[in-house]
Amino acid sequence: MEPLVYINGELVPKSEAKISVFDHGFLYGDGVFEGIRAYNGYVFKLYEHLDRLYASAHTIMLTIPMKKEEMAEAVIKTLRANSLRNAYVRLVVTRGEGDLGLDPRKCKKPNIIIIAGELSVLPKEVYERGVRALISWVRRDRIDATSHEVKSLNYLNSILAKLEANNVNFDEAIILSSDGYVCEGTAENIFIVKKGELLTPPTYTGALPGITRQVVMEIATNNGIKVIERLLTVHELFNADEVFFTGTGVEIIPVVEISGRKIGSGKPGEITNIIIEEFRKYVSDPRNGTPIY
Ligand SMILES: Cc1ncc(COP(=O)(O)O)c(C=O)c1O
Repeated sequence: MEPLVYINGELVPKSEAKISVFDHGFLYGDGVFEGIRAYNGYVFKLYEHLDRLYASAHTIMLTIPMKKEEMAEAVIKTLRANSLRNAYVRLVVTRGEGDLGLDPRKCKKPNIIIIAGELSVLPKEVYERGVRALISWVRRDRIDATSHEVKSLNYLNSILAKLEANNVNFDEAIILSSDGYVCEGTAENIFIVKKGELLTPPTYTGALPGITRQVVMEIATNNGIKVIERLLTVHELFNADEVFFTGTGVEIIPVVEISGRKIGSGKPGEITNIIIEEFRKYVSDPRNGTPIY
C-alpha cells in the first residue's frame, strides 16, 4: 500500500501529496518543522516536540491553526493510518500559499503536513567505529539572525557545512558559533567528555535546544555523571576524552576524529557507551512516549 501523508486534515497517498509552488515554505523557506520518532508503538517525547514546534512558530509569528492536543492526535492518526510502530515523523508547518513577494501577510492559511515513514538508520558499524567530523568554515547563523534555536525551514547554513564535509569525505561537520565557540553538528547537538564530566555548549551559541540533548543530560545526571553547560573552545574539543553527537535521527553517535585530530583513544569512549546503553532503555520505556494504539 502506498504511504499516506497528512495534509491539512486529509490523509492522501504519497503520489498525490502535493503543495502549491506558491507556498512560502517552498519559495522562501518560511515555515517550521519537527523530526520526531516512534519506538515500539509510542511517540517519543511527543509533547516536547510540539512545545518546540509551537515556540518556533511563535518566534516567526506563524499562528498554527490547531491546538497542541489536536496536533498530537494528527501525528498519531498519521502513524496509525500507515500501521507504523517504529517510525520517523516529519511534521512541517509552512506559512502557506501567497504571491511572489515575501510578505507573510499575503499567506492566509498555513499548510500542515505530516509524513511518517520507516527510518533509514545509519549502519551499525558507524556506531561501533564512530564518525570523522570536520570543523566547517561555515559559522552558525547569529542568534540575532536566523538562529537555529528556531527549527525553521532554513537549513542552508547546515547544508553548506555538510557539503564541505562531503567534499572531503568526512562523515559530518561541526559548526562554530559566530564568535568561534563550538556550537553543534549540522543536525545534531554536540557533547564532550573530559575527566569524567559531560560538557555541552549552551543554546545561546545558536544551537537548537535538542530534545535528545535534554534526554542525554537527564540520563547522565541520573547515572551520577556531572553535566556542565558552558562555552567550549575548539582546543577543548580537540583535547576531549570523548565526543559524541545527539539527535532524533542519529540518536547518539560517537565522534572519534575531528579535523585530523584523534579524539581520546580514537574509539567510542566508555561514557559515550554508557549513555548509548541507557538511552536505549530510556526510549523503550513507555513512560517517555505517547501511545499510538
Ligand atoms: C540543527 C539541529 N541541531 C540539533 C538537532 C537535534 O535535536 P533533537 O535531538 O531534538 O532531534 C537537530 C535535529 O534535527 C537539528 O536540526
